[in-house]
Amino acid sequence: MSFNFITAEEAASMINNGDTLGLSGFTAPGAPKFITEALAKRAEAEHEAGRPFKVNIFTGASTSDHVDGCLSRANAINMRAPYQNVPDLRKRINSHDCHYFDRHLSEMAQEMRYGFYGGIDYAIIEAADINEKGEVILGTGIGNIPTYAKLAKKIFIELNDRLPSSIYGMHDIILLQDPPYRREIPIYAANDRIGSPVLKIDPNKVVGIVRTSSLDGVKPFSAVDEVSQQIGSNVVRFLISEYRSGRLPAEFLPLQSGVGNVANAVLYDLGESKELPPFMMYTEVLQDAVLELIKKGKCSFASTCSMTVADATEEMLFNDINFFHDKIMMRPAEISNNPEVIRRIGVIAMNTALEADVFGSVNSTHVLGTKMMNGIGGSGDFTRNAYISIFSCPSVTKGGLISNIVPMVAHPDHSEHSVDIIVTDQGIADLRHKDPVERAHEIINNCAHPDYRPLLRDYLKLGKGGQTPHTLTAAFAFHNAFNETGDMRNADFGKYC
Ligand code: COA
Repeated sequence: MSFNFITAEEAASMINNGDTLGLSGFTAPGAPKFITEALAKRAEAEHEAGRPFKVNIFTGASTSDHVDGCLSRANAINMRAPYQNVPDLRKRINSHDCHYFDRHLSEMAQEMRYGFYGGIDYAIIEAADINEKGEVILGTGIGNIPTYAKLAKKIFIELNDRLPSSIYGMHDIILLQDPPYRREIPIYAANDRIGSPVLKIDPNKVVGIVRTSSLDGVKPFSAVDEVSQQIGSNVVRFLISEYRSGRLPAEFLPLQSGVGNVANAVLYDLGESKELPPFMMYTEVLQDAVLELIKKGKCSFASTCSMTVADATEEMLFNDINFFHDKIMMRPAEISNNPEVIRRIGVIAMNTALEADVFGSVNSTHVLGTKMMNGIGGSGDFTRNAYISIFSCPSVTKGGLISNIVPMVAHPDHSEHSVDIIVTDQGIADLRHKDPVERAHEIINNCAHPDYRPLLRDYLKLGKGGQTPHTLTAAFAFHNAFNETGDMRNADFGKYC
């Protein structure tokens, strides 16, 4: 069969108000760019003509301005899931212009197949190549596209000439059977291949191919600041002490690392350590630092869902693709983040918190308990199943007006039962083998900023017993003080005595 080559505008004109789209990609890489931009323009024109126009969008994770940015500004997103991180979309979500629901990334594809969320009208797939049998060579991010392509009534392909066809072989694509037929996932080491190098789709569903030309547009990291540097070196100090104590095996264990400056700082620091052996990664995103570690021989293999690297790094990778080819494998989110695999191979999880409380619960998603920041992403997939789960964050934010260690988190994403280690620029709190009150002292003494330690101790003194001695009337005194006075240091526990 021969495919129909069309423009992005023609593709957008086929999409109707109320349609549901399933997009390829994960954290910008691999997401479509051109059809969604044309769709935003179409939505603006429809709105100007007084007609409603909004679509529902399922992705792998966050996208970029080409998807969430322009469509949010056009107020063209009715429903969106899962993870996002674009400021314009965040505003729409927090003002209820867009219905957003936040799921663990490993669960999205299977729940779509289970029929929890309705059908998909169009899958939009960014590809390096496609042949007439419907074998697609994907780009730099996979996400949930194997499931979305299977469920979609129709498919658009964005054929991106910036993706080299030599990327063939760096993907490991598989669709899991659903219960009661699901079998074990035969990954016993991070570098085990279990699927196909191509995504197989029904070529008859392809209604149009749009030729595109664009890198993913991931911004380079800003220079690592002093606080991130300190957090990074504390995490590495912890890992080295675990290794020395024999609580980590001599071969070391695969690492998962979240996104952001702190995660990048941790990885750079790990690369400097002479004591730790070369390690593998089993993670959902690869940042720039990992490619450097691979070059240095410090990271021997990385399994991921996407390559979230800055454009310059992406070009370096494509220019040197033969070197990286057998050292990186990209998999669907339900495999990269699969709890069964994470638990089996003993992944060390390193994620970032917005705030943690004195008993060890973590808020990753809601600023001051109400405003959605990004979403839970893969942090729950990894945290709950990790060999060791580490959360890090600065001890304070907004110049000290906010303490990231609080009496009680204002939104619980990860409970004290899943969090092993908390790290801030102040130090390391090891919560393992400690009861709640012991944990509270460990966190206050080692992780809270000195300005907040007396206040947090005052909060503990209010406790009237119980295994976890919260005082419910005072538990949000920090948050209330910030909302009322703009400074958490104004929390006054005296009035609760
Ligand atoms: N209360 C209020 N605001 C807070 C805060 C707190 N406790 N902690 C941080 N903030 C603010 C910061 O001041 C900053 O505000 P700004 O945008 O106005 O400058 C913003 O939140 C982001 O903080 P920053 O320290 O830059 O965060 P980050 O880029 O390191 O991201 C998370 C931290 C938690 C938002 C991010 O890691 C995330 O979305 N995590 C969930 C998903 C996840 O863990 N995925 C894991 C695998 S990739």
